[in-house]
Amino acid sequence: MGSMCAASLRRPPPPPRPAGLPPQRSDWTTSVDTVFPNNANPLGTAFGGYVLQLIDVTSAIACFRFARTQVVTASTEPIDFRAPVHVGEIVEVRSRVVWTGRTSMIVRCEVTGENPFSGERRLCTSGHLNFVALDANGRPTPVPQLLVETDEERAQWAEGERVRAAMLQRRDAGSHTEP
Ligand SMILES: CC(C)(COP(=O)(O)OP(=O)(O)OC[C@H]1O[C@@H](n2cnc3c(N)ncnc32)[C@H](O)[C@@H]1OP(=O)(O)O)[C@@H](O)C(=O)NCCC(=O)NCCS
Repeated sequence: MGSMCAASLRRPPPPPRPAGLPPQRSDWTTSVDTVFPNNANPLGTAFGGYVLQLIDVTSAIACFRFARTQVVTASTEPIDFRAPVHVGEIVEVRSRVVWTGRTSMIVRCEVTGENPFSGERRLCTSGHLNFVALDANGRPTPVPQLLVETDEERAQWAEGERVRAAMLQRRDAGSHTEP
């Protein structure tokens, strides 16, 4: 998305991928920050673009940990800003791969705002993003299949399937046409 490109990070090239990757789990990746005034809007609450950047970075790291390849953000799926995070509050982002295709991963992200003094926490933002794994030549490359074991993981997989179906429908409807 936008100017934030997780794949552009300079790092050693990944080793060649073995065929028939074993299925694997995805655990939550969490990042924590606090909202400074320079990341706020005139209402004194976190600017949406700042929250989206935290989401994008945390979600990309969840994909790195899962696929151990370069990844790019292919789409941001519905992301709902339910409640604001105020200046001075702690903002916690957690992301997990919840669905896998052949080369793509759908990540669920949740953003919690926390009052640093009372400890009161509330879910402020949630949604999904779609990432694609790339090989050393920048071409889509297979990802491991996701292991889905708990009821919560099954529910999140089902939600990921709905996100995927909506993305394909959008693509078929022609919203991905050339400018
Ligand atoms: C994402 C990208 C790599 C897909 O390349 P592509 O040549 O269209 O790849 P393919 O058609 O072979 O599709 C590969 C996978 O991407 C998925 N995909 C392609 N376009 C997509 C989109 N707009 N949204 C979500 N998923 C998408 C496909 O469904 C497929 O998934 P699957 O293998 O699990 O079925 C390419 O469009 C790209 O590089 N986009 C720019 C990414 C970018 O700059 N991001 C911002 C900064 S990180």
